[in-house]
Amino acid sequence: MAILVTGGAGYIGSHTVVELLQKGEEVIVIDNFSNSKREALEAIKSITGKEFKFYELDYLNREALEKVFEENPQIDSVLNFAGFKAVGESVKKPIEYYTNNISGALVLLDTMRKYQVKKFVFSSSATVYGEPERIPLTEDCKTGGTTNPYGTTKLYIEQILKDIYMSDSTWDIAILRYFNPVGAHESGLIGEEPQGVPNNLMPYVVRVAAGILPELSVFGNDYDTPDGTGIRDYIHVVDLAKGHLKALEKLEKEKQGLFIYNLGTGMGYSVLDMVKAFEKATGKKVAYKIAPRREGDIATCYSNPEKAERELHWKAEKTLEDMCKDSWNFIKKKQG
Ligand code: WQD
Repeated sequence: MAILVTGGAGYIGSHTVVELLQKGEEVIVIDNFSNSKREALEAIKSITGKEFKFYELDYLNREALEKVFEENPQIDSVLNFAGFKAVGESVKKPIEYYTNNISGALVLLDTMRKYQVKKFVFSSSATVYGEPERIPLTEDCKTGGTTNPYGTTKLYIEQILKDIYMSDSTWDIAILRYFNPVGAHESGLIGEEPQGVPNNLMPYVVRVAAGILPELSVFGNDYDTPDGTGIRDYIHVVDLAKGHLKALEKLEKEKQGLFIYNLGTGMGYSVLDMVKAFEKATGKKVAYKIAPRREGDIATCYSNPEKAERELHWKAEKTLEDMCKDSWNFIKKKQG
């Protein structure tokens, strides 16, 4: 049986494809390179020594997508990573975000239905919790009140999946709510490559340390946190990828159901914690200044990951030092 991975050349997707191939799974990847690079595919092959089928296509293209299913009747599950994911960009381009993320997911799900493929793993986000009801967040916390179109697409697709399952309980769906993915594969051959100036903290820190950007702006030090800076649950992207394999195993075992899991470490670190951890792990200085708060940011967000530990037998294993070292190793390799 084969696993179709949409967005498989992207940051989370490529790391998950590596883990799937190393587990011996047959993988088929589709990607349109709108937020990824073709060389990630070669990197996956050199890391794993494994081959896989690839189709360059936009999953909104129903005809092209159906061709993939026609040519690969052995597909029995789908991992969907093909979502735009930059919060700031989504505020400027809501139509593109709703079209790509929601219409794309609907075309994919409708095509899956046509070919009787009903195992689906969705990349959701802790953003769906909006202003956290309580910390640490558990999966039964209220969702809604998302503050940007990116987060709202995740919320809406979660609702679409719940409605699909209500209409036909033969679907087998895992919704995985990511906290803050950071880091890179230890080989340094795949990692996060945001286009332009990074929105997220770790890619920015790494570029300051590499001398690409002059200094980090710490968005506010007047939050109600121990050092005044924002606290988040940073999770190594390889741990996140492994969580997808555990979710697939769960779907294999359960045969049907809809399951929601937080994929986080359960540990919260502040911006200044991250700067200090990065400097300690790499020996590189990170120049920073305190800047005004960023619109839409919340003070504290971290997970209670016990449900995934209990039901998926999955627990994040990599440390903050691993996250910092692997992020630094990736950009050093990119710089050559
Ligand atoms: C983390 C902390 C900032 C940049 C978003 C999405 C989430 C996921 C990850 C996709 C905050 C501070 C940041 C900087 C800073 N997206 N910061 N200076 O906003 O928690 O989550 O990205 O998978 O769904 O919502 O991540 O890395 O942008 O910010 O001080 O230059 O770092 O204020 O406290 P965020 P982030």
